Amino acid sequence: MILIFGCGILGRHLLRALPDGSETIAAVNAHAISPAQPLSERIVYRVCDVRSGTDLAALAAFCGSEPLTVYYFAAMHNIDAVFTDPAAAYAVNVDGLRAFLSCGLSIRQLFFASTDCVYGENDALHPRFGEDDPLHPINVYGAQKAEAEQIVRAHGFTVLRFPFLFGPSLCEKPNFYDTSVRKLQSGTPIDMIDGMTRSALSYRTAAQLLVRLSALPLPAGETINVCGDRGFGKYEIGLLLAEKVGCSASLVHKLSAREGERFFKDRRADSACMDNTKLKRLLGLQSIELEV
Ligand SMILES: NC(=O)c1ccc[n+]([C@@H]2O[C@H](COP(=O)([O-])OP(=O)(O)OC[C@H]3O[C@@H](n4cnc5c(N)ncnc54)[C@H](OP(=O)(O)O)[C@@H]3O)[C@@H](O)[C@H]2O)c1
Repeated sequence: MILIFGCGILGRHLLRALPDGSETIAAVNAHAISPAQPLSERIVYRVCDVRSGTDLAALAAFCGSEPLTVYYFAAMHNIDAVFTDPAAAYAVNVDGLRAFLSCGLSIRQLFFASTDCVYGENDALHPRFGEDDPLHPINVYGAQKAEAEQIVRAHGFTVLRFPFLFGPSLCEKPNFYDTSVRKLQSGTPIDMIDGMTRSALSYRTAAQLLVRLSALPLPAGETINVCGDRGFGKYEIGLLLAEKVGCSASLVHKLSAREGERFFKDRRADSACMDNTKLKRLLGLQSIELEV
């Protein structure tokens, strides 16, 4: 059985990217999806809050002794929400993960969604972070993910560090991409920060890469940067979006990094690009582009 635990935006893209097959796919969220619209008969939607022992016991009973491939995406990941209530975030991001791993599931492989925030800020010595570089997170979210990663590796499972992910939400609730596209289509300007450079990737490409990685015999406790070849600042991404929508680039307003800071409570790296050499070697790829 395939278990997508935390089947939000990345999870919905993964549901579309998974190849045809007969294995059941359990798509699990903290809240009920309403209305649940299975893409195929293989998909079973379930609710499980990782903070609830009762919910986890019910999930373990549902899965039984079936060997599971788990995509673990559940997280409180809004950087400012994590900063504002770190204890609530820790209960999901660290304690919840621990509880999940000890609730009696038969996990054959698990892929954990981590983030470039674990690294901190690029500098002259580290213009692109490699998997073995030291971790110096500059926000609480990055620190919690770094702690969660250690738990995942100690169990012999796989840590995937994603960059800024971009693309349609496919969920009931529109995301940043959806609202930006709608604004541009209606001639409304969008503000984009000149900075916050990341090795961005579309959700769709991230899900496709994840499917390909799942088919490989990876060593236990592996960590892989799953990102694009090149860093993009937020303003640059806004320009690409305007091009896609077919509207004037003048609708994309450039905010200085300083002006952008007023929107944030916790720190963001100005640049946190990652190196994807290991990923490309594993998958035999020459390049990984950002699809807008
Ligand atoms: N988006 C990015 O740019 C990005 C970048 C790097 C890493 N990541 C990581 O990738 C993962 C997926 O991100 P996403 O963009 O798909 O986010 P998302 O759409 O917000 O998905 C998060 C999922 O976690 C679930 N969840 C939250 N609290 C939970 C709890 N207490 N118990 C069980 N499930 C819970 C949510 O369920 P409900 O919807 O029912 O609340 C949702 O299904 C996250 O771990 C995130 O940290 C994302």
